[in-house]
Amino acid sequence: MKTKYITKKKKSPKQNKFAPGQAKIRELQEEYLVKKEFKINSTTQSIYFSDSRNMSELKDNSVHLMVTSPPYFNVKEYSKDYSGKDLGNIDDLDKWFEEINKVWQEVYRVVQPGRKIFINIMNLPVKYNDVSFRTLNLVGKTIDSCEKIGFIFKRDIVWHKTNGVRAHFGTYPYPGGLLLNNMHEFILEFEKPNPKKIDKYGHLTREIKEKSKISRDFWLSLKNSDVWLMKPEKSGEGRTHIAPFALELPSRLIRGYSYLTETILDPFVGSGTTLKAAASLGRNGIGYEINRDFEKIIDDNLNPKQLELVAV
Ligand SMILES: C[S@@+](CC[C@H](N)C(=O)[O-])C[C@H]1O[C@@H](n2cnc3c(N)ncnc32)[C@H](O)[C@@H]1O
Repeated sequence: MKTKYITKKKKSPKQNKFAPGQAKIRELQEEYLVKKEFKINSTTQSIYFSDSRNMSELKDNSVHLMVTSPPYFNVKEYSKDYSGKDLGNIDDLDKWFEEINKVWQEVYRVVQPGRKIFINIMNLPVKYNDVSFRTLNLVGKTIDSCEKIGFIFKRDIVWHKTNGVRAHFGTYPYPGGLLLNNMHEFILEFEKPNPKKIDKYGHLTREIKEKSKISRDFWLSLKNSDVWLMKPEKSGEGRTHIAPFALELPSRLIRGYSYLTETILDPFVGSGTTLKAAASLGRNGIGYEINRDFEKIIDDNLNPKQLELVAV
């Protein structure tokens, strides 16, 4: 595996005639875009440690598939960055939608017409007035937002988790306060329209198409049900990132909806699960991650020894 760093200015740093203090240095550093490239398995995995609300490094219509799970607003603490760049640290739900939608808008620009995006998201149970709980309608609103941007909503897939969030026993044995364990998340499938009927697989050779063929068994394992049973990554102490999704999730989608050598995007890289799946399946990957603290975890995840562990 070869790793390469490319550092360039995203926009010119402001000139400061005085020696910059720590705060200023930090501000200047933040204006540098850091791209890290891994050459693995004849693929290139590129990671921009940058804000995915602006993916100006990527050309229009250049991505063949997007798979991601967004940070949930102010529920999990991914970082101590409250500058507004970390979309996981936004307190107001409407504001969170507004900012996340900027990412979906960018995704719309860069995805090739006729191709798919998959968003892993759940209706989030939250504490309400610190006593009871309510569930936030994130799924329905995400569908509405993405349709407004122009995507076609194709279907939702239910990810049935084997160890979801266990609720306590409520009013047992008396009826009324029955709390259900939360055992599922959604994977929302959208398509970018292709009004000009561009041949969306025109860039692929016959050989690549043949090599990308999937077995009948795997095809059926995707097709037979829109409820997919997949074991989540380890939780608690044994987990290296705060909310990684199951490796099987991007692996299934990449095999099912893209071809060898194509480009897969994850605008919220986290621990790098999507890129790990892409590398092991012979696809190029592009990811954005705002939190540089995850670099080591990403490095470990993209280690070729780890890639051999990919099971689909
Ligand atoms: C739910 S996690 C993604 C987990 C990932 N699927 C995995 O398997 O590890 C969301 C990630 O989005 C990142 N993030 C938050 N705001 C961002 C932004 N503006 N641009 C890029 N990444 C951002 C967070 O730092 C966090 O790592």
